[in-house]
Amino acid sequence: MMHGHFITFEGGDGCGKSTQVGMLEQRLKLAGKTTVLTREPGGTQRAETIRSLLLDGKARDMGKFAETLLFSLAREDHIEKLIAPALAKGDWVICDRFIDSTRAYQGAGGGIDPDLINALERVVVGPYRPEITIILDVSPEEGMERARLRMKELGEEVPDRFESEEIAFHHRLREGFLDIARNEPGRCVVVDGMQPVGEIHQLIWEHVCQRVGA
Ligand code: TYD
Repeated sequence: MMHGHFITFEGGDGCGKSTQVGMLEQRLKLAGKTTVLTREPGGTQRAETIRSLLLDGKARDMGKFAETLLFSLAREDHIEKLIAPALAKGDWVICDRFIDSTRAYQGAGGGIDPDLINALERVVVGPYRPEITIILDVSPEEGMERARLRMKELGEEVPDRFESEEIAFHHRLREGFLDIARNEPGRCVVVDGMQPVGEIHQLIWEHVCQRVGA
């Protein structure tokens, strides 16, 4: 059923994921692999529509439970239309955020019952669990500062729905990601996001090669 490889990137806002996702994709391409680069929430038309509702804060008034369901709804479409077919073809799928963002942002950060999150994963994700998950770790203070600088560069005026949460939320988030890594050491690796970009990439590349023999 799955002949490809499924790699996800996780971490708090401003952890440097987007840069690393792009660098890993380029490296895999140079090695002759067929890659699919995607992100959550998003990746398909329907999921991108749901993304806008979630990130511009329109869904916020419906509450955290509804937001959790919306992330899952977007994920279901993304898996069915993009991730599953690509893996069946033997592609390398690299996804910027996936299930661990729901566990950390809605669960550890937002207080949604982990039993509900597990049940949603069972129904929505089923066998499509990532083979490797890279968690980029930076302190919440550093992450928020980087997110602020990025906003300035892009000329954006308002932070998105989750960037605007208070610092305590971002601390719970970081602990949430580190807990996931402790509980699933076979799938997850934590990489210190404070190192130079090239060194982070090299560590990620070595880890991927070691895990799948690329
Ligand atoms: P995005 O702009 O992609 O943020 P980043 O560049 O930090 O990845 O926005 C995604 C936001 O959605 C981010 O703040 C994390 C949040 N999110 C959740 O809360 N739950 C989820 O399941 C996912 C996939 C993302």
